[in-house]
Amino acid sequence: MSTKDRVLSGIQPTHDSFHLGNYLGAVKQWVELQDSHDAFYCVVDLHALTTSPDPTKFRKQTLASVAQLIALGLDPEQCTLFIQSHVPAHNQLAWVMECLAGFGEASRMTQFKDKSAKSGADRTVVGLFTYPMLMAADILLYQAHQVPVGEDQRQHIELTRDLAQRFNTTYKEIFTIPSGYILKAGAKIYDLQDPTSKMSKSAESPNGIIDLMDAPEINTKKIKSAVTDTEREVKFDEKNKAGISNLLTIYGALTNKSIAESEKDFEGKGYGDFKTGVAEVVVEFFRPIRAKALELLEDPTHLNKILKIGAEKAGAVAEKTLKDTYDAMGIIPRA
Ligand code: TRP
Repeated sequence: MSTKDRVLSGIQPTHDSFHLGNYLGAVKQWVELQDSHDAFYCVVDLHALTTSPDPTKFRKQTLASVAQLIALGLDPEQCTLFIQSHVPAHNQLAWVMECLAGFGEASRMTQFKDKSAKSGADRTVVGLFTYPMLMAADILLYQAHQVPVGEDQRQHIELTRDLAQRFNTTYKEIFTIPSGYILKAGAKIYDLQDPTSKMSKSAESPNGIIDLMDAPEINTKKIKSAVTDTEREVKFDEKNKAGISNLLTIYGALTNKSIAESEKDFEGKGYGDFKTGVAEVVVEFFRPIRAKALELLEDPTHLNKILKIGAEKAGAVAEKTLKDTYDAMGIIPRA
């Protein structure tokens, strides 16, 4: 057994491409954590079913997500990378979590409240309501110590902790109580067209989102049309210069420079030169990653082999936890 702390995180395969915000806000930290931790990363296809994806697209998007994660630096030799549905214990433990969670407690999840308020009760699937219990199962099956997620997932982690504690006191000390490893705020990337909202695929227009699988010309154009302000100085000031600050964050994060160093690179330069500089950095950063992802997608046999190994490694851990859980609850094992 590894003596390193264990981390687990998940990402939904709901799009053809991850965007810059996904990378800087999450996947970059995942890559860093795989060296220092015993890391489990899962492409949460079952969670994505709550968005009713088109089957043909969904199949492609799931594989594309795996390919991009590897291209971005997740090393299947170093971490356990797998598809959630390949390990049925996730659904099985989710049911246990649903029998532990209170209806009121689940009704208070803000993400559920926001999403269901938008679509109305009759158009909201029950899976959206039970989503946090499946997420709790994802985490608890692996006895994860830390869960690297964005700020928006904090409440789901709290629920996971509560459910784990409840199980441990009611039945038996089975679960490790996980803590959220809330990803650095500095890694928060905003929409290029609306630099007060987080870069997200739910944005009204795709023009503010940098997709890693997009052609370089498209991304260059998007960065050059980023919303800025009427001043001329390339200075970090989130309050008054949200657009410029966002571009500085992007530039600094991809070049590993501090904000001060990044500002210095554009001292005395206009916004036009600044945007060209940022666009070059972004495009050159993603160029080899996009190429690598495309190369991986050309060899599905190889990709499937990686996924098979990932599912086997994950399954072994998950099945042990599930077995202990069932046993503690008095479920008779099949002879
Ligand atoms: N709900 C998470 C998100 O939208 C995705 C997720 C599913 C997850 N299962 C998880 C994240 C387990 C961390 C751990 O970002």
